[in-house]
Amino acid sequence: MADEYDILLCGVTGFTGKLAAEHLLAKAYPIKWAVCARNEAKAKSCLAVLGEQLGKTQLPPVEVADLVCTTAEEEAKLRAVVQKTKVVITTAGPFEKYGQTLVKLCAEEGVDYADISGESDFLRAMVAHHDATAQQTGARIVVHCGNDCIPWDLTVFEMRKHAQSKGAELVEAQTFGEFGTGAMSGGTLTTAIYQLGKQRSAAKPDFDPLLRTRDGRKSESLTKIANPKKDVWVGEFGQYGGPWIMGPVMANCVRRSNALLGYSPNLVYGDALLRGHPTMAQWVGEKAYTTLVAAAVVMPSLFQRFLPGPGEGPSPRPWRATSSTCTASARWSTRPAGSRRRSRPSTTSQATRATCTRPRCWWRRGCSSSRTRARAASSRRRQPSAAAASLCSGSTRSSAPSWRSVRRKACFVTPRRPLPRGP
Ligand SMILES: NC(=O)c1ccc[n+]([C@@H]2O[C@H](COP(=O)([O-])OP(=O)(O)OC[C@H]3O[C@@H](n4cnc5c(N)ncnc54)[C@H](OP(=O)(O)O)[C@@H]3O)[C@@H](O)[C@H]2O)c1
Repeated sequence: MADEYDILLCGVTGFTGKLAAEHLLAKAYPIKWAVCARNEAKAKSCLAVLGEQLGKTQLPPVEVADLVCTTAEEEAKLRAVVQKTKVVITTAGPFEKYGQTLVKLCAEEGVDYADISGESDFLRAMVAHHDATAQQTGARIVVHCGNDCIPWDLTVFEMRKHAQSKGAELVEAQTFGEFGTGAMSGGTLTTAIYQLGKQRSAAKPDFDPLLRTRDGRKSESLTKIANPKKDVWVGEFGQYGGPWIMGPVMANCVRRSNALLGYSPNLVYGDALLRGHPTMAQWVGEKAYTTLVAAAVVMPSLFQRFLPGPGEGPSPRPWRATSSTCTASARWSTRPAGSRRRSRPSTTSQATRATCTRPRCWWRRGCSSSRTRARAASSRRRQPSAAAASLCSGSTRSSAPSWRSVRRKACFVTPRRPLPRGP
């Protein structure tokens, strides 16, 4: 593994890739980084615009390679680029279309990899095809490393830690997401339309690759998904909440973490999106939008033109002023040390909130305001216990190669405020 670069960023010409490049430029971390794009002129022009906005004259070098390698020469070219770096981060999606060869090459070359995909099938395929190779070479391949799913995954991870600190086992977790704006980037919509419209293979593996452990066996830690099927009144928040497009992806991500980290043999996990108090007009607008996306899945040539396309996204100014919040409650059970037999669920209660409103993630727990106590008390009436929810940040490297065990340490939560300029 060469170390010409610490980080190679792929997808810089896209909506999210520009945000990632903006972050790296603004922060001016003491690292060597480069971008990789299929169109050199477009990448240079994007970087020039960002450099001008941020007052930076020193821009990263541009490596040129197509991520979809149709010939051996193209793959060799991409491999040569991958060999130059320690870590690849990529925002070029749909990942099932553009990301497969990149993961393969990173696994083969022992280069660490993180992406922002929200495609469960992509994660499944990458685990099935490249896990063994990545373990041999020491590459850490971290899929699902974007704003969806990191806060959700870390929240459940923190709840498990909290249960463990009480000498208990997490048995049930429920997360509630809140977004300032539901606006999606064109790339996200393109990915959703691609995923919903694609032909699925009839061939089924022996077991879901998400359950695969490091030694290739099926994990004994299974997750039952309990996402809501329709909007319901969530009394604890005084809001309506229900299903959303990323709910199943969050659940699959937690399922993978449970399989690898062994939260519980029978974890029950559900995720709901809080929608506030939608007026009739908002409700109709949302249904119309969902219908338009569904129509674009069935007839892309006719309807996709009415939706934002690749490279487009929400207008930065109002979007940056918003934040996303992930709140959770959980149930755990205590069990005697050294025994597999579980006692009945704990009745202890604690309610906390994890909020991501700043470039640096932060978390609060154990708040004792009367509002929090009231919320905890109300949740206790319905559930035996409610546990802590949290986000954390950092990018330290773990020693053992694995697919998911390092996820908690590689947090890429999109900051939605103007970034402070670095030195
Ligand atoms: N997890 C999350 O929270 C989260 C958030 C946002 C987005 N996403 C996902 O991230 C992905 C990107 O979203 P986006 O809105 O940024 O998309 P986008 O604006 O369409 O950007 C796609 C990027 O991929 C590049 N690309 C496409 N084909 C390529 C190829 N063959 N070789 C090299 N580069 C190629 C594009 O380069 P060109 O300019 O040359 O076409 C562009 O830079 C989507 O899959 C979306 O679902 C996830």
